[in-house]
Amino acid sequence: MSGASPVSLERQGDIGIITVNYPPVNALGPGVAEGIKDCLARGNTDPAIKAMVLIGAGRSFIAGADIRGFGTNRPRLPLGQRVYDTLDASEKPVIAAIHGYALGGGFEIAMACHYRMALPSAKVGLPEVLIGILPGGGGTQRLPRLIGVKAALDMIVTGRHVPAPEAKRLGIIDELLPENADLHDSAIAYAMRIMGTRPSPRVRDRMVRLEDPGIFDAMRKSIARRARNQTAPYHCIAAVEASCAMPFDDGCRREADLFRELEDSAEARALRYAFFIEREVARLPDIPASTPVRDFTTAAVIGSGTMGGGIAMSFADFGFPVKIMDATPEALERGMQRIRDNYATSVRRGSLAENEMQRRLARIEPVAGYEDIADCDVVIEAVFEEMDVKKPVFAKLDEVMKPGALLFSNTSALDIDQLADMTKRPQDVAGTHFFSPANVMKLLEVVRGKASSPRTLATAMQMGRRIGKLSAMAGNTDGFVANRSRAPFNTEMVILLEEGCLPEQVDKVMVDFGYPMGPFAVGDLAGLDIGYASRKRRAAENPNFRMQPISDRLAEMGRYGQKTGAGWYRYEKGDRTPHPDPEVAAIIKEVSAGLGIPQREFADQEILRRLLFSSVNEACKILEEGKAYRPSDIDVMWLHGFGFPRYRGGLFFWADGIGVREVYNQIAAWHQQYGERWAPSRLLRDLAESGTSFREAKAAAFVP
Ligand code: 3HC
Repeated sequence: MSGASPVSLERQGDIGIITVNYPPVNALGPGVAEGIKDCLARGNTDPAIKAMVLIGAGRSFIAGADIRGFGTNRPRLPLGQRVYDTLDASEKPVIAAIHGYALGGGFEIAMACHYRMALPSAKVGLPEVLIGILPGGGGTQRLPRLIGVKAALDMIVTGRHVPAPEAKRLGIIDELLPENADLHDSAIAYAMRIMGTRPSPRVRDRMVRLEDPGIFDAMRKSIARRARNQTAPYHCIAAVEASCAMPFDDGCRREADLFRELEDSAEARALRYAFFIEREVARLPDIPASTPVRDFTTAAVIGSGTMGGGIAMSFADFGFPVKIMDATPEALERGMQRIRDNYATSVRRGSLAENEMQRRLARIEPVAGYEDIADCDVVIEAVFEEMDVKKPVFAKLDEVMKPGALLFSNTSALDIDQLADMTKRPQDVAGTHFFSPANVMKLLEVVRGKASSPRTLATAMQMGRRIGKLSAMAGNTDGFVANRSRAPFNTEMVILLEEGCLPEQVDKVMVDFGYPMGPFAVGDLAGLDIGYASRKRRAAENPNFRMQPISDRLAEMGRYGQKTGAGWYRYEKGDRTPHPDPEVAAIIKEVSAGLGIPQREFADQEILRRLLFSSVNEACKILEEGKAYRPSDIDVMWLHGFGFPRYRGGLFFWADGIGVREVYNQIAAWHQQYGERWAPSRLLRDLAESGTSFREAKAAAFVP
């Protein structure tokens, strides 16, 4: 091997240490697996070496196969010659010394080693299913042999990362080290202890422990809803099933066959794309990564309503102390009670431990007034969504907050520049648009005002990541990027009703497509009164604003959705199941007749395309106006703000599957039929003419 190999072997006494050094996370990039094989061979032939340690340099053991290499026709070694097989065949025992992550192929390598030790902060797992494939390095055959079928199926089908202490309990890790142990030295000591043991224990030689033969069908049933339209989770189950039905090598062959079927499937391509765009979104083309960010340790939230409370919980959930205030002590107490209730629900459902709830609650400090938050590093205003309510808050923040504190507004549509103008430090102001419920939804839109400084923006982006969000930058445009691109979808869905659709028909199409809920059912959950109020406000400002006669009628009847037991659907007391309501069907008929709109039948595909193409067109307008950096950022927003099915990649990725030309032709046809609201964007036309995909579309230079 040349000196440039990412894997090296050195000897310390009787022990050979194989180190993988392929930053940043030791993925199995070019030369890594080959390097390990080569070092193993050398270790086995060196008479001075009695046992070996496999360890990762930097922050991880091995994070798995190089995802960039999938779908690229890279050559593949036949079964029997892969690194896993070389480990199996190693005469001298090998210990995997794990820190950081041992994932996918990295964990499969660890399982092919003879012993495993780990630091308690390490995590192991087989997350392949999350990128639409299955473990292809023998993981589906070794894990059931190591920990039994039940636990293996759970890990492989969910793809979850298992913390080392749990991995020890499950039987994955032989030795769990104390937190401050030196992994390298401990691994050498371990190797010295076992170096005389022969034969070395191999996972492949163990019997599979099948606790319950019905487990496979039960698993298929239990994932039916979550995994609809997907193949990978089912192939994962089939591969584990093979581990019980055939000898190890045959099982590996079956695994390889199933792997090949998935590797370049539409679902795998979409999920890989999602993986990379979620990382790309953090890069701001016009703000260098080296921009100094403000280190924040304390945060404050103004307003303890649903949004403010959820934002405070997000900070507390990720270990940050946060102060929260409201206009009156009563409002604050109500807000705190809502927070306590939310946490208590999580404890009741078993997703949060009681003591962890106490720790989180202790981080949220209700305070009486502005003086109490003056020394916080960041403050997020989350008061009522009304310019006249928010403006005085910003004037007050300017007065009291320490110099350099960052002032963020949680608004979903208001002009951030007007709020910044209320202060003498507009460079420190930006929008941070959380999605509801704020402690659950992962998207954080960072809204860039005209004067927002690079430091403010870089800090806002980083703050989001530190509280578990995916931060995406948006320009200051009506509805910002996510909601603005979604707005035509919302308009189209009610126009479809006017033309003869029923809410349940539209919802079924969207659920079949992969959304967790249909848009009308979501409307009932959020409350129809909110949209109604905002439409009235917009109509007052803009005489051309199109009201929504059917939605308006429902709201005027007090049908606000789940909270009133009726909205687009009817609800039984204490039950959230939506039931189609003949009363709604009658209203739709009556209003449509009044409007003189001809009624007709709709095919599912037309419904789907009417909703999503309208948004594709708007998203193109956003790019051509330079209000977003790139198409993939909008895809991230759709994945994490609106529950767009991840295995379809995102709005643009999905539209690319249809083809720009076809999307354009359809939009142009609807423009003829329906008029102005379907006018194709310039960018869309240009893409169609030049045959460029949506994903390759270049946004105009960013305009705050
Ligand atoms: N392949 C290629 N690049 C990878 C990678 C991988 N497996 N894992 C991480 N990277 C890259 C990221 O794209 C990112 O690149 P960038 O800096 O250019 O954006 C960089 O490494 C750092 O990654 P993160 O920003 O995600 O770092 P974190 O510390 O937040 O997370 C991680 C680390 C948990 C390891 C996370 O990167 C991750 O989940 N990686 C994917 C792990 C995975 O899916 N492994 C299985 C691969 S499939 C497989 O092994 C098939 C086998 O069965 C044959």
